[in-house]
Amino acid sequence: MHPDWQKIANEFIQATSYRVGELEKGWASRYDFSKRPRTYLHYEDIFARVPLGEPDFPAPADLWELLQNRRSKRNFLDQPLTLNELNLLLWGTQGITADMGDYQLRTTPSAGALYPIETYLLINHVEGLEKGLYHLNVRDWCLEGLKQEDTSEIAYRLTEEQEMTRRAAVNFVWTAMVDRTRHKYRERAYRYIWWDAGHTAQNLHLAANALGLGITTIGHWMDHDMHEYLGIDGTEHLSVLMASVGKLAGGHWLEERRPK
Ligand SMILES: Cc1cc2nc3c(=O)[nH]c(=O)nc-3n(C[C@H](O)[C@H](O)[C@H](O)COP(=O)(O)O)c2cc1C
Repeated sequence: MHPDWQKIANEFIQATSYRVGELEKGWASRYDFSKRPRTYLHYEDIFARVPLGEPDFPAPADLWELLQNRRSKRNFLDQPLTLNELNLLLWGTQGITADMGDYQLRTTPSAGALYPIETYLLINHVEGLEKGLYHLNVRDWCLEGLKQEDTSEIAYRLTEEQEMTRRAAVNFVWTAMVDRTRHKYRERAYRYIWWDAGHTAQNLHLAANALGLGITTIGHWMDHDMHEYLGIDGTEHLSVLMASVGKLAGGHWLEERRPK
């Protein structure tokens, strides 16, 4: 860690704070959206391409009850998610819900509709999927298999031995491609990107809770090792948030809160 992190943090906040009258009037409407960086990432060199298709939506859940009962739960069972459950979680976080012509809108809001967030999955137990590292191809709505291997110990090691991660059916790693947002918002992008990730994670909480699955957001992981594992540079494309999801026994939430 950098010895001057407090000074750097203070400088960052000051350097990205605005004052009334400081910005040129009408700058946002002059942004040429057609020149924005590409919104969609896909991989060519993959071991599997798994089409997801339209998820099979369950009966509607009561939002107010979901909010009342939302908890972070970590006591996962050694049981697989169905591919439809995973598809619902992905749709709830990144699914395309409107076509605006040269861009598309999603279930999760994004600053300027620029969608910097990418989704990587460390799949441990999902019916019909080999264990491994996958990337969500949002445009074609499919999973791209990047590494075929047992990911549970990798997730455990990369989160400094958080037990839930090796039990989870799937560990989500959200990354950001900085230029998508920075191209328009410059210094402010370094705030927007993390806000985008927070919105995505909250949608995952609600979707997982609606399906009766356990979920916990994770802020504590080893960034450098994660970037190496994902094959991203850690500066222009970096990890921004994680979450673990798995099946629960369905007991009292206090019992489900911590891994046994
Ligand atoms: C940004 C963020 C990072 C978090 N990081 C972790 C983590 O690394 N490990 C963990 O077990 N829980 C983590 N949590 C979950 C919190 O501990 C949890 O939300 C908090 O205790 C409140 O409990 P509740 O979500 O059940 O209401 C994180 C939550 C957030 C929002």
